[in-house]
Amino acid sequence: MIDGFAFEQVVCGYGDTLVVRGVGGAVAPGRVLGVLGRNGVGKTTLLRALAGFLPLAEGRVHWRGRDLAGIAAHARLGLGIAYAPQENVVFGELSVADNLWLHLPERSRARYAEAFAAFPLLEQRLRQRAGSLSGGERKLLSFARTLGLSAPLTLLDEPTEGVQPENIERMAGLLHQRRAAGASFVVVEQNLSFVEAVADEVLVLDQGRTVAAGALAALGRQAIEAHLAV
Ligand SMILES: Nc1ncnc2c1ncn2[C@@H]1O[C@H](COP(=O)(O)OP(=O)(O)OP(=O)(O)O)[C@@H](O)[C@H]1O
Ligand SMILES: [Mg+2]
Repeated sequence: MIDGFAFEQVVCGYGDTLVVRGVGGAVAPGRVLGVLGRNGVGKTTLLRALAGFLPLAEGRVHWRGRDLAGIAAHARLGLGIAYAPQENVVFGELSVADNLWLHLPERSRARYAEAFAAFPLLEQRLRQRAGSLSGGERKLLSFARTLGLSAPLTLLDEPTEGVQPENIERMAGLLHQRRAAGASFVVVEQNLSFVEAVADEVLVLDQGRTVAAGALAALGRQAIEAHLAV
């Protein structure tokens, strides 16, 4: 897939412990891949590897026809791959405003116009210390900051964790706007409804392996829920 993002037979973990054991997937421009699975199955570990924060023990990652082997996380960002991690998502000692503008060359509010319209609380709290936001508000800030990069591919790790339902709906709305403009996303989630609202295809992981993959409609909610049930 020359235009998009693809990973094959990814194996990775921590030291001698392999967590992800041969997982593949692909996302074409304007498409959204949802990655589902119970706690501890390796979703975050897979996303870290795709973002370049964890080396692959085996496998390949391709982006726009290029093999990303040996390309570090900051260089992947330069190639158009943005990443919002699951935890430690904001700089707590900095203001909301400084969190938003930290990585950007110009302090353009226009970059965040959509996010401020969707989540007015972020604009109202620009001067507040980010560490004093609630967990869900920090996730919103991280989501807004990452979308502000306008990357062609964005990797999101449980963006809706702790976020209020009405803001989750607005997140889905923003993803739809971006994908309509050709952006792609890989979204790790435990919130099946959010995945149903935004994703075209899904990958369901269990113990580091793929247990279901394909179009959401074809797989069916019940089959997916069976893999997510504890
Ligand atoms: N830095 C680390 N060092 C060693 N083991 C780790 C590390 N991070 C995660 N693990 C282990 O890897 C496994 C998968 O963790 P991971 O965070 O990828 O799961 P997850 O699917 O994202 O779970 P959750 O839904 O709870 O976020 C777990 O057994 C976890 O304990
Ligand atoms: Mg995780």
